Amino acid sequence: MCGIVGYVGPKEVVPVILEGLRRLEYRGYDSAGIAVGTPGQEKLEIRRAPGKLRNIEEVLRQHPLHGTYGIGHTRWATHGRPTEENAHPHRDCTGRIVVVHNGIVENYIELKRELTAQGHLFVTQTDTEIIAHLIEEVQKQAEAAGTPIPLEVAVRQAVKRLTGAFALGVLSSLEPDKIVAARFGPPVVIGLGKDEHGQGEYFVASDVPGILHHTRNIIFLNDGDMAILTLNGIAFTDFEGNPLERKTQRVTWDPIQAEKGGYKHFMLKEIWEQPRAIRDTTLGRISLETGQVFLNEMAIAPEELAKVTSINIAACGTSWHAATAGKYMIERLARIPVEVDYASEYRYRDPIADPNALGMLITQSGETADTLAAQREMIALGSKTVAICNVVGAMITRDANGTIYTHAGPEIGVASTKAFSSQITALFLFALHLAQVRGTLTPAESLSLVDELSRIPAKIQDMLQNVSLQCEELAKSFSTVRDFLYLGRGIHFPIALEGALKLKEISYIHAEGYPAGEMKHGPNALIDETLPVVVLATQDPNDPGSRLRYEKTLSNVQEVTARSGRVIAIAVDGQQDLVQLVEHVISIPPAPELLLPLLEIIPLQLLAYYIAVRRGCDVDQPRNLAKSVTVE
Ligand code: M6R
Repeated sequence: MCGIVGYVGPKEVVPVILEGLRRLEYRGYDSAGIAVGTPGQEKLEIRRAPGKLRNIEEVLRQHPLHGTYGIGHTRWATHGRPTEENAHPHRDCTGRIVVVHNGIVENYIELKRELTAQGHLFVTQTDTEIIAHLIEEVQKQAEAAGTPIPLEVAVRQAVKRLTGAFALGVLSSLEPDKIVAARFGPPVVIGLGKDEHGQGEYFVASDVPGILHHTRNIIFLNDGDMAILTLNGIAFTDFEGNPLERKTQRVTWDPIQAEKGGYKHFMLKEIWEQPRAIRDTTLGRISLETGQVFLNEMAIAPEELAKVTSINIAACGTSWHAATAGKYMIERLARIPVEVDYASEYRYRDPIADPNALGMLITQSGETADTLAAQREMIALGSKTVAICNVVGAMITRDANGTIYTHAGPEIGVASTKAFSSQITALFLFALHLAQVRGTLTPAESLSLVDELSRIPAKIQDMLQNVSLQCEELAKSFSTVRDFLYLGRGIHFPIALEGALKLKEISYIHAEGYPAGEMKHGPNALIDETLPVVVLATQDPNDPGSRLRYEKTLSNVQEVTARSGRVIAIAVDGQQDLVQLVEHVISIPPAPELLLPLLEIIPLQLLAYYIAVRRGCDVDQPRNLAKSVTVE
């Protein structure tokens, strides 16, 4: 995720900002930039560079900057490639206003059109650039009306036009020693410090580690807050301009803890980030009025998609599990047959060429060697390929005809969590889009599914606390067992596989995922009073197919309990029949069956996490595993 660091105070600003950005490097980025102002100068000076911070340091060595207020940014690309032009800060037409931004402006195309018609010139492909022009336009119009407005008022009016999510830092050379910050979605923290002479200095950042080496006195902005930082102090308002009181907190985290946002491990932080990751992956791609799904960036025309007769998906590990869940979504909603391969198997099985088949590759990193090899094979067989990927510009995206980016942000824990739920979200959107171009869903069905998808982040947010406590408690009883079994039916089967993978990779406990109905064909022999069996026993009671699958799964649960197996059931709130039948029930909120995986995976991730912690395992870097597997 992008990093922001800004400073107003007596010090030379460049070293303060560079040091802060370095401490935010763990968030991942692919370019960096800095804007600096000096009172009396007409324009703000900007330096930017693609790649790591050492590149911008080199640019600054060759073209130094000096000033006492400024803002820096490390960019994790979402719109537009990680180039110098697309790096932040972005300017308005005059070069007097600059903006750094973390998040996504959903309606940027519409605003860009409007601003272009008003004569604004755009020089980047980013959504952020429109914010600088919007602020410029607001100020220009106020000026023309004879009522000039200060920067904070213009920012306030501009942010009201934005839909999406943003953490913003804005400077204007006409108002030296001032930074305006705003939050709607991504975090913004404000720091209050004093230099060695006791003079006040003020900081803004996207995360505490960016300023922790200067101050521990931190204010966390809420959604809808603005902060105006000047040499005289900080004022807080809402987006209407009403003054706000915000409490300063004394942060006692050590720097490493701070990088993890106070969480013990990156994996836990990333589990908790899932509501945001799912929301960001959905933002700008759905209409809640019509139910339409827009995947314009996929660059495969709807007419072409409508002609596809089958889909081959190749992926590895967690991404393969997402792919398998995606098969159920695509087949159910768009009625196209889908085959899912382990990428490592695909090209060695002599697949059959079909020019009407669409190839899909799912990969968090976009650099997995097996998946890249499968893509080459698909292309050689004459298929177009679409990638679902979390890293803009990654290898897989270069040869793909289209990419649907997941906006999970960098995932640091080796065990994939938020990337998985973002992949599931992207697949659901893809399945809906396909269904819409093929006319296999009515507008009312589309609208209802889009509406349900938009409710998922809040449902996860609401359940996280309770489910965490429950899983932590369960871990006490189950952390010493040797084996685990995970069962699921239909779309819940790949989620059972993913639950088992999470447990084995971070706790080193042997765990297997199985289709619930297959138990009686062999694995029942394993069941005794020592074997924990996690069963995905959820249902959508409004869906007859889902009810039927649930009833069958319930019989499988009975087969396990009859043999004294210890069942942990994942169920939808209010499934009383299960509560009476099994030892432990973890409840999740209701949802249509195809969306239940996004809720089911949360307790499975947390159970694995707490068991691994109790066993003293290295949760973020499990033995023998790497985050990106770039060898076959
Ligand atoms: O980057 P990718 O999605 O292509 O990676 C695929 C697998 O290596 C990855 O999902 C792996 O299984 C994870 N460690 C699972 O948590």
